[in-house]
Amino acid sequence: MANRRKTDMTKRMMAFLVCLACVFAVYLLSTGLPHKEETTSKGAKFTVPDRPVDTAESERIYQSMCIACHGDQLQGAVGPELAHIGGTMTKEQLFKKISSGGGGMPAFQSRLTEDELVTIVTWLASHQ
Ligand code: HEC
Repeated sequence: MANRRKTDMTKRMMAFLVCLACVFAVYLLSTGLPHKEETTSKGAKFTVPDRPVDTAESERIYQSMCIACHGDQLQGAVGPELAHIGGTMTKEQLFKKISSGGGGMPAFQSRLTEDELVTIVTWLASHQ
Protein backbone atom coordinates (compact mmCIF):
# COMPACT_ATOMS: atom_id res chain seq x y z
CA MET A 1 0.00 0.00 0.00
CA ALA A 2 2.73 2.41 0.98
CA ASN A 3 4.62 1.42 -2.12
CA ARG A 4 1.64 2.21 -4.35
CA ARG A 5 1.33 5.69 -2.87
CA LYS A 6 4.98 6.27 -3.58
CA THR A 7 4.45 5.42 -7.29
CA ASP A 8 1.54 7.89 -7.45
CA MET A 9 3.76 10.57 -5.99
CA THR A 10 6.44 9.85 -8.59
CA LYS A 11 3.87 10.10 -11.37
CA ARG A 12 2.63 13.39 -10.03
CA MET A 13 6.16 14.71 -9.76
CA MET A 14 6.83 13.68 -13.37
CA ALA A 15 3.64 15.40 -14.56
CA PHE A 16 4.65 18.52 -12.69
CA LEU A 17 8.11 18.50 -14.28
CA VAL A 18 6.62 18.05 -17.77
CA CYS A 19 4.34 21.05 -17.12
CA LEU A 20 7.30 23.08 -15.97
CA ALA A 21 9.22 22.18 -19.13
CA CYS A 22 6.26 23.24 -21.29
CA VAL A 23 5.95 26.60 -19.57
CA PHE A 24 9.67 27.11 -20.04
CA ALA A 25 9.46 26.17 -23.73
CA VAL A 26 6.61 28.67 -24.29
CA TYR A 27 8.63 31.32 -22.46
CA LEU A 28 11.66 30.64 -24.68
CA LEU A 29 9.52 30.80 -27.82
CA SER A 30 7.89 34.07 -26.85
CA THR A 31 11.08 35.83 -25.81
CA GLY A 32 13.69 34.09 -27.95
CA LEU A 33 12.21 34.30 -31.44
CA PRO A 34 11.69 38.07 -31.82
CA HIS A 35 15.31 38.56 -30.78
CA LYS A 36 16.42 36.22 -33.50
CA GLU A 37 14.37 38.21 -36.00
CA GLU A 38 16.08 41.42 -35.02
CA THR A 39 19.57 40.22 -35.79
CA THR A 40 21.12 40.68 -39.22
CA SER A 41 22.26 37.79 -41.41
CA LYS A 42 25.73 38.24 -39.91
CA GLY A 43 24.25 37.72 -36.46
CA ALA A 44 24.97 41.26 -35.29
CA LYS A 45 22.23 43.02 -33.35
CA PHE A 46 20.51 45.41 -35.73
CA THR A 47 18.98 48.62 -34.46
CA VAL A 48 17.24 51.42 -36.34
CA PRO A 49 18.91 54.73 -35.40
CA ASP A 50 16.86 57.21 -33.33
CA ARG A 51 15.62 60.15 -35.38
CA PRO A 52 12.98 62.85 -35.12
CA VAL A 53 9.81 62.02 -37.11
CA ASP A 54 9.85 63.63 -40.57
CA THR A 55 6.14 63.75 -41.38
CA ALA A 56 6.37 65.56 -44.73
CA GLU A 57 8.99 63.22 -46.19
CA SER A 58 7.26 60.13 -44.76
CA GLU A 59 3.91 61.12 -46.25
CA ARG A 60 5.60 61.67 -49.61
CA ILE A 61 7.04 58.12 -49.52
CA TYR A 62 3.79 56.65 -48.18
CA GLN A 63 1.67 58.32 -50.85
CA SER A 64 3.86 57.18 -53.69
CA MET A 65 4.54 53.61 -52.52
CA CYS A 66 2.20 52.35 -49.80
CA ILE A 67 -1.15 54.10 -50.10
CA ALA A 68 -2.60 51.73 -52.71
CA CYS A 69 -2.42 48.74 -50.37
CA HIS A 70 -2.62 50.35 -46.92
CA GLY A 71 -5.16 53.13 -47.54
CA ASP A 72 -5.06 56.95 -47.43
CA GLN A 73 -5.70 56.99 -43.65
CA LEU A 74 -3.54 53.91 -42.94
CA GLN A 75 -6.83 52.09 -42.47
CA GLY A 76 -5.76 49.14 -44.61
CA ALA A 77 -6.98 47.76 -47.93
CA VAL A 78 -5.17 44.83 -49.58
CA GLY A 79 -2.59 45.18 -46.82
CA PRO A 80 -3.36 45.40 -43.09
CA GLU A 81 -4.23 48.57 -41.17
CA LEU A 82 -1.14 50.51 -40.03
CA ALA A 83 -2.75 53.27 -37.95
CA HIS A 84 -1.53 51.73 -34.66
CA ILE A 85 1.35 49.63 -35.95
CA GLY A 86 3.88 51.38 -33.67
CA GLY A 87 2.12 49.72 -30.73
CA THR A 88 2.61 46.19 -32.06
CA MET A 89 5.86 46.21 -34.04
CA THR A 90 9.30 47.47 -33.04
CA LYS A 91 11.25 49.73 -35.40
CA GLU A 92 13.50 46.78 -36.22
CA GLN A 93 10.53 44.59 -37.13
CA LEU A 94 9.05 47.39 -39.25
CA PHE A 95 12.36 47.92 -41.03
CA LYS A 96 12.67 44.22 -41.78
CA LYS A 97 9.08 43.89 -43.04
CA ILE A 98 9.31 46.94 -45.32
CA SER A 99 12.75 46.15 -46.70
CA SER A 100 12.26 42.38 -47.16
CA GLY A 101 8.46 42.15 -47.62
CA GLY A 102 6.74 38.75 -47.57
CA GLY A 103 3.17 37.44 -47.34
CA GLY A 104 1.90 39.68 -50.17
CA MET A 105 3.90 42.69 -49.03
CA PRO A 106 6.50 43.76 -51.65
CA ALA A 107 10.16 44.20 -50.67
CA PHE A 108 11.29 47.82 -50.79
CA GLN A 109 15.02 47.47 -50.17
CA SER A 110 15.83 48.16 -53.82
CA ARG A 111 13.22 50.92 -54.24
CA LEU A 112 13.91 52.93 -51.09
CA THR A 113 17.30 54.04 -49.76
CA GLU A 114 18.24 53.06 -46.23
CA ASP A 115 17.69 56.68 -45.25
CA GLU A 116 14.14 56.63 -46.66
CA LEU A 117 13.47 53.31 -44.92
CA VAL A 118 14.55 54.74 -41.56
CA THR A 119 12.36 57.81 -42.22
CA ILE A 120 9.20 55.80 -42.92
CA VAL A 121 9.92 53.33 -40.10
CA THR A 122 10.33 56.19 -37.60
CA TRP A 123 7.04 57.72 -38.79
CA LEU A 124 5.14 54.41 -38.60
CA ALA A 125 6.60 53.67 -35.15
CA SER A 126 5.07 56.96 -33.93
CA HIS A 127 1.59 55.63 -34.86
CA GLN A 128 0.74 53.83 -31.62
C1 HEC B 1 1.09 45.53 -53.17
C2 HEC B 1 0.48 45.91 -51.92
C3 HEC B 1 1.36 46.52 -50.84
C4 HEC B 1 2.16 47.65 -50.92
C5 HEC B 1 2.41 48.54 -52.13
C6 HEC B 1 2.69 47.84 -49.58
N1 HEC B 1 2.25 46.86 -48.75
FE1 HEC B 1 2.68 46.67 -46.78
N2 HEC B 1 1.69 44.91 -46.71
C7 HEC B 1 0.96 44.36 -47.75
C8 HEC B 1 0.40 43.08 -47.33
C9 HEC B 1 -0.46 42.17 -48.16
C10 HEC B 1 0.84 42.88 -46.00
C11 HEC B 1 0.57 41.68 -45.09
C12 HEC B 1 1.81 40.83 -45.12
C13 HEC B 1 1.75 39.68 -44.14
O1 HEC B 1 0.66 39.33 -43.66
O2 HEC B 1 2.83 39.14 -43.84
C14 HEC B 1 1.62 44.06 -45.64
C15 HEC B 1 2.21 44.25 -44.40
C16 HEC B 1 2.85 45.40 -44.02
C17 HEC B 1 3.33 45.66 -42.68
C18 HEC B 1 3.19 44.71 -41.49
C19 HEC B 1 1.83 44.96 -40.87
C20 HEC B 1 1.42 43.94 -39.85
O3 HEC B 1 0.42 44.23 -39.14
O4 HEC B 1 2.01 42.87 -39.78
C21 HEC B 1 3.90 46.90 -42.68
C22 HEC B 1 4.54 47.61 -41.52
C23 HEC B 1 3.78 47.41 -44.03
N3 HEC B 1 3.13 46.48 -44.81
C24 HEC B 1 4.25 48.65 -44.44
C25 HEC B 1 4.26 49.09 -45.75
C26 HEC B 1 4.91 50.29 -46.21
C27 HEC B 1 5.64 51.27 -45.33
C28 HEC B 1 4.73 50.34 -47.56
C29 HEC B 1 5.28 51.37 -48.52
C30 HEC B 1 6.71 51.61 -48.50
C31 HEC B 1 3.94 49.18 -47.95
N4 HEC B 1 3.68 48.44 -46.82
C32 HEC B 1 3.53 48.90 -49.24
C33 HEC B 1 0.78 44.92 -49.00
C34 HEC B 1 1.44 46.03 -49.47
